[in-house]
Amino acid sequence: MTTDSAPTESYVFQGTINKKMPQVLRGKGVRMTIKKDGKVYEDVIDGVTGAAVGALGWGDEEVLPIINKAASENTYSFPSLIGNQASEDLAKFYIDSSPKGAFSAALWCCSGSESNENALKIIRQYQQERGRPEKIKIISRDTSYHGFTLGALSISNCSRFNAFKEICIPQELCLKMPACYPYRYQKKGETEEEYSQRLLDTLEKMIVDNDPNTVSCVIVETLPGSSLGTAPPPKGYLPGIRALCNKYDVIMMLDEVMCGTGRSNPNGKLNCWENFLDPKDAPDIQTVGKTLGSGYVTIAGVLVGPKIRQAFVEGTNSVFGAQTYSSHGFNCAVALEIQKKIARDGLTANIFKMGNLMGEKLQKALLSEDNIVGDVRGIGGFWSLEFVKDRATKEWFPVELDVGHRFQDICFQNGLNVMGMQGNADGHNGDISLLAPAFVITEKDVEDIVEIVIKSVGQLSKELKTEGKW
Ligand SMILES: Cc1ncc(COP(=O)(O)O)c(C=O)c1O
Repeated sequence: MTTDSAPTESYVFQGTINKKMPQVLRGKGVRMTIKKDGKVYEDVIDGVTGAAVGALGWGDEEVLPIINKAASENTYSFPSLIGNQASEDLAKFYIDSSPKGAFSAALWCCSGSESNENALKIIRQYQQERGRPEKIKIISRDTSYHGFTLGALSISNCSRFNAFKEICIPQELCLKMPACYPYRYQKKGETEEEYSQRLLDTLEKMIVDNDPNTVSCVIVETLPGSSLGTAPPPKGYLPGIRALCNKYDVIMMLDEVMCGTGRSNPNGKLNCWENFLDPKDAPDIQTVGKTLGSGYVTIAGVLVGPKIRQAFVEGTNSVFGAQTYSSHGFNCAVALEIQKKIARDGLTANIFKMGNLMGEKLQKALLSEDNIVGDVRGIGGFWSLEFVKDRATKEWFPVELDVGHRFQDICFQNGLNVMGMQGNADGHNGDISLLAPAFVITEKDVEDIVEIVIKSVGQLSKELKTEGKW
């Protein structure tokens, strides 16, 4: 650790306004150098890669030539007038890397929020194209997050939505079904399948009560992340949603912005839903982002299934509206080469194995000791810890203790970057911490992460006990 006297005043309108956020100086693989409050911290292990963004790890030496080539070969054009081959190639790559027949087209944009905005508009136009304009209601979930733009917030339900709900899409159109959250809501004695069925019965009732002729789509995060924290769906849940969507002629949309594109895929490929759904039960439309560009380019996308594409082709054969930087050739070219490298090096298989190893080690160590961790859950490269005051009752800590962020600070002081969050239990209460390391992690990195997490949990538990708060 070294110190310097750089000014701390900030000109960036983000996070804390009048004070510089911790600054990243550089990164190499799964480690980074960060300047915080004038001190430089070397070799911080990046346990969460920003917001589950990094797949390759930082400073990958193959990426620089990829970027140079993409910059020299791509000229900007406005995508709805003049296209580019890189966006075509990336779309074909994603389609070919997904189960056969799942997707047949893709739209590329610059953030997960935008991808969900675009998906909502595509679904709206789909219903118009096929002569069902009265289908306008969207069903998503309690305790969900789909992005920070107003449309994406309207289908979310969390503290970020609460802060802006008065200016969001009226909630009569954006209905919310219960969260799928086994740790808190699966009843004692209820099997996974029974819990799924209870949720599905509620969804079906919601569709019927709201007139199926007016219901357009159901949207869920395959594996929720920055909402309630990586709770894998129980057996039968996603297939059940698929069946209800088929029954009532409703679009099934999955948001895989955070959990997808290799982060939690069991087959060395891309989609998280392949853990839970047969290829024949693929979603009709899906959003992706984050690891697609692995932090090197700002790219996200909407994958469009054959049913939706066909309705457009048989209708107006055009997508209404466009954004200046959709299908950005440079971004697409870089993302494609990054994805090819991930596939070539078997990195998705690596993170699935290493991530599960990390999760199992944490479950074993943390849940067998007396500490503030109530649950350790996740799959592949995406895990979270949930903190509780009382394991038996699952009572959460008072909000003002800000346990999630306090845990994040302790981990940082111990040399590990994690993301602490609050509001997982009901949009306001509850503390979690997310882990989403780069796909390149080794067994040694896993051991280092696990060691620091265990140490930090012990430290925070002890502090809270000393303060009389636990
Ligand atoms: C499931 C999900 N959807 C959408 C988004 C929004 O993505 P972005 O922050 O790139 O706009 C996020 C961000 O965390 C997310 O977790």
